[in-house]
Amino acid sequence: MKPETVCGLDIGTTKTCAVVAVDGPNGLEIVGVGEAPSLGMRKGVVVDLDETIKSIEAATEKAERMAGMHVADVFVGITGDHIRSTNNRAVVAVSGEDREVSSTDVRRVVDASKIINLPADRQIIHALPRYFTVDGQEGVDDPVGMAGGRLEVDTHIITGGSSFITNVLKCVHRAGLEAAGLVVEPLASSTATLMPEEKQVGVVLLDIGGGTTDIAVYSLGSAIYTATIPVGGNILTNDISLGLKTTLAEAEEVKKRLGAGIPNDVTEEAFAVRTLDGRSTKEHTASQLRAIVVPRVLETLRMAKQKIVDNVPRDLVLGEVVLTGGGALLPGIGPIAEDVFGLPVRVGAPNTIGGLTDAMAQPQYATAIGLVMFGAGDDGAETNGRRRRNGSVLGWIKKSLADLWN
Ligand SMILES: Nc1ncnc2c1ncn2[C@@H]1O[C@H](COP(=O)(O)OP(=O)(O)OP(=O)(O)O)[C@@H](O)[C@H]1O
Ligand SMILES: [Mg+2]
Repeated sequence: MKPETVCGLDIGTTKTCAVVAVDGPNGLEIVGVGEAPSLGMRKGVVVDLDETIKSIEAATEKAERMAGMHVADVFVGITGDHIRSTNNRAVVAVSGEDREVSSTDVRRVVDASKIINLPADRQIIHALPRYFTVDGQEGVDDPVGMAGGRLEVDTHIITGGSSFITNVLKCVHRAGLEAAGLVVEPLASSTATLMPEEKQVGVVLLDIGGGTTDIAVYSLGSAIYTATIPVGGNILTNDISLGLKTTLAEAEEVKKRLGAGIPNDVTEEAFAVRTLDGRSTKEHTASQLRAIVVPRVLETLRMAKQKIVDNVPRDLVLGEVVLTGGGALLPGIGPIAEDVFGLPVRVGAPNTIGGLTDAMAQPQYATAIGLVMFGAGDDGAETNGRRRRNGSVLGWIKKSLADLWN
């Protein structure tokens, strides 16, 4: 097999990150990464085309230089609170006379499941089969080759606002790149951080970025709900800057160092921050900082929880919450999330891909690395030490991209 190059482009609210990987006989291996500040994005969507193009060019050039190769096609992450999801079901009659399910039947039934009521300004980004049903037998993962006359599919459908997507694609094109596919960021981050067992048992993934929090809920192995809310870690920095009357840079530093701290911490650490005019410093205590940070973290997590409660079946079993994205590094966030969700919480970082440096095995790179994994058709599952491939996914995302232009 000739090694294939796969690239991911995560245009975040705080940073743009390009990852180049080579898909060879030993699986996916990262060979180049590049990062640049994002100045043209707000809450996950483009607000300044020129700045966004510059960030894409800078990040991609760095990744190309490191990889020693030119990049032409990228899997592009899409986020923003225009992302919606729904689940649908469709049925087709198996077409062959031998009554054996073919890959064409699978494609037909998945396409049929995409027939949903969609306003003119929205489009389908993914139609992900959750499971198939053959002649009433539910829970079939791969029906191709099975005997049967009636094929059904349950799909998870993710849609986005067309103009938001077009703006991202405009920037990608003007930066001299082609989009190999679009991947919503909650799916990408899940691919990089969630274990197959977690997806099976039931898990909530929250990617807390700078301007957005991506939500994905998995149950019985597949995504059942995906969404994005327009709040992330940057609002905490703003709150701290206002609350302590200090610069955004100081506020960001304090946030990363002390964050929400440990409740009732015995050591009431005092710290000094520069005043806004930069001429003097003022002392504050960790509990003053907590009084600013904790309510905002609670609010964000409760918003995410409410979205989930409103949109997943009441009897859905969930075993865990996984936090990723830069916001997951906030000191003290774990216990707060455990309280809000009433579930065990872990911080998830991408770690199941070759060529990963320590610097990249961090929550803020979950999306970029997940884009490459998803693009390569790697669903993050591992069996007997070998990555399990789900090659058909690639076909579907390419197809959905084609749909965009029709
Ligand atoms: N150690 C840390 N503690 C607390 N917050 C942190 C830490 N490191 C990064 N962050 C915060 O994480 C956010 C950036 O995260 P990330 O890089 O995942 O965002 P992004 O992908 O650029 O944005 P988005 O996904 O919202 O479009 C910023 O708000 C930053 O302050
Ligand atoms: Mg992000």
